[in-house]
Amino acid sequence: MGSKNISMAVIRRLPKYHRYLGELLDKDIHRISSKELSEIIGFTASQIRQDLNNFGGFGQQGYGYNVEALHNEIGKILGLDRKYNAILIGAGNLGQAIANYSGFRKAGFEVKALFDANPKMIGLKIRDFEVLDSEEIEKYVEEHNIDIAILCIPKNGAQDTVNRLVSVGIKGIWNFAPIDLEVPKDVIVENVNLTESLFTLSYLMKESEEEL
Ligand code: NAI
Repeated sequence: MGSKNISMAVIRRLPKYHRYLGELLDKDIHRISSKELSEIIGFTASQIRQDLNNFGGFGQQGYGYNVEALHNEIGKILGLDRKYNAILIGAGNLGQAIANYSGFRKAGFEVKALFDANPKMIGLKIRDFEVLDSEEIEKYVEEHNIDIAILCIPKNGAQDTVNRLVSVGIKGIWNFAPIDLEVPKDVIVENVNLTESLFTLSYLMKESEEEL
C-alpha cells in the first residue's frame, strides 16, 4: 500500500517511531511488543497498533514487532532510503547553524551549497562551504541535482526567492522564513517556526499554573 492514504496525523508521528526504533536497534533490541513500545514512546499501545497497521501489520501475535523491519519500513515510507541534495539560502545566524549541524547529512540530507544576497557574506567560508551569490541560484540548481531548498532568509524577498526556485524545478522547500509561501501543487513546503513552538510552550505553562 502506498503512503497516500495515511493520515497526516499518522505521518507526523512516524519520525518519532523511526527515532525510537533506531535507538532500540542501537541497544541491540530486535523485538518489542506494542505495550513496551508504548512505555518508551508515550503513545498508547492501541494507538501504536492502529498506526502501524496502516503499513500492513508488522506485529505478530505473541511475538511483537520486529524492530529492524519496522524501522526500515518506516524509513522507506518517510523516503529515508534515498539521499537528498539541498541548497541553503540565507547564510546568517540560522543558516549557519543549520549548515553546521552534521546530523542532517547523516540522515541523508546533504547541504551542497550556501547562498546569500549580501556582498559582505559572499565568499565567506562557513564549514566546508564558500558562500555563493544568490544571483547564481538558478544556474547552480540547473547544474547540480538539487532536491530541496532550505530557506533561512527574512520574509521580505522569500516569496520571490521561492518563485525562482520553483522555476528551476525545486520540489521541496524547508521554510524557516516567517511567511506562508505560495507554490504550485507539486511543490511541497514544510514550515518550521520556533516562535510558534515557543508560544505553545508559553500557553501550556500558563495553563499549568492556572490549574494549580
Ligand atoms: P540573519 O540576518 O543573521 O541572516 C539572514 C541572512 O539572509 C543574511 O545574511 C542576509 O544577507 C540574507 N538574505 C536576506 N535576504 C536574502 C535573499 N532574498 N536572498 C539571499 N539571502 C538573503 O538572520 P537569522 O537570524 O539567520 O534569521 C533569518 C530568518 O529566519 C529571519 O527572517 C527570521 O525571522 C527567521 N528565523 C526563523 C526561525 C524559525 O524558527 N522559523 C528561527 C530563527 C529565525
